[in-house]
Amino acid sequence: MIVALTGVTMADQINLPTPSKEGGKPLMTALSERKTSREFSDREIPLQMLSDMLWAAYGINRPDGRLTSPTAINRQEIDLYLVMKNGAYFYNPKELKLAKISEKGIRTTSGFGKFAEKAPLTIIFVVNKGRQQISDPTASLTLGAVDCGFIGQNLYLYCASEGLNTVFFATLNKEALSTALKLEKGNEVFFGQSIGFPPEK
Ligand SMILES: Cc1cc2nc3c(=O)[nH]c(=O)nc-3n(C[C@H](O)[C@H](O)[C@H](O)COP(=O)(O)O)c2cc1C
Repeated sequence: MIVALTGVTMADQINLPTPSKEGGKPLMTALSERKTSREFSDREIPLQMLSDMLWAAYGINRPDGRLTSPTAINRQEIDLYLVMKNGAYFYNPKELKLAKISEKGIRTTSGFGKFAEKAPLTIIFVVNKGRQQISDPTASLTLGAVDCGFIGQNLYLYCASEGLNTVFFATLNKEALSTALKLEKGNEVFFGQSIGFPPEK
């Protein structure tokens, strides 16, 4: 079943529309407007906007499968999960699909700050250690965190460009999220980033 995202998180799989790679504010304007905001309206993010945003964050931008965001040794070890009001999805950048992980609303049980409990979308950054293949723990942690940071900044710039509010955060309950997102052993939750429209005045 393919459905619009608004108010829906019941489809097993959502085919994302082809991301639009045009438009947006000039880079220097987006950089001028990049900021953290912790207030969100309840309004859902339209599916086309979601697809564009995910592509900007961590989408394939070259024929050889490389991404808009750099990763150490091109291991592409970051997985992005989407936590929304009524469930959680896994983003598959190759197939442009969202795969349903859970129908449970987990915004209030994941140790997020109050802001993220209200945000219509929180992206969870997971480091897939199996794909990363870096045995030294310090290097694994450092390179994983850096790779998350690049994606986070891509999201910040997309949000600045599109008039969305966003906050990148480290405060979350990794254990609760690992269970809720059904992560396999070796996958570790690193960060979250909440995104939504500014509150209506
Ligand atoms: C690695 C990292 C971790 C962060 N963790 C949190 C957090 O747990 N909670 C929060 O409210 N903001 C968090 N932030 C957002 C920062 O507080 C914010 O970026 C900072 O205040 C600067 O504001 P600006 O982004 O508008 O420049 C984090 C930012 C980074 C880069």
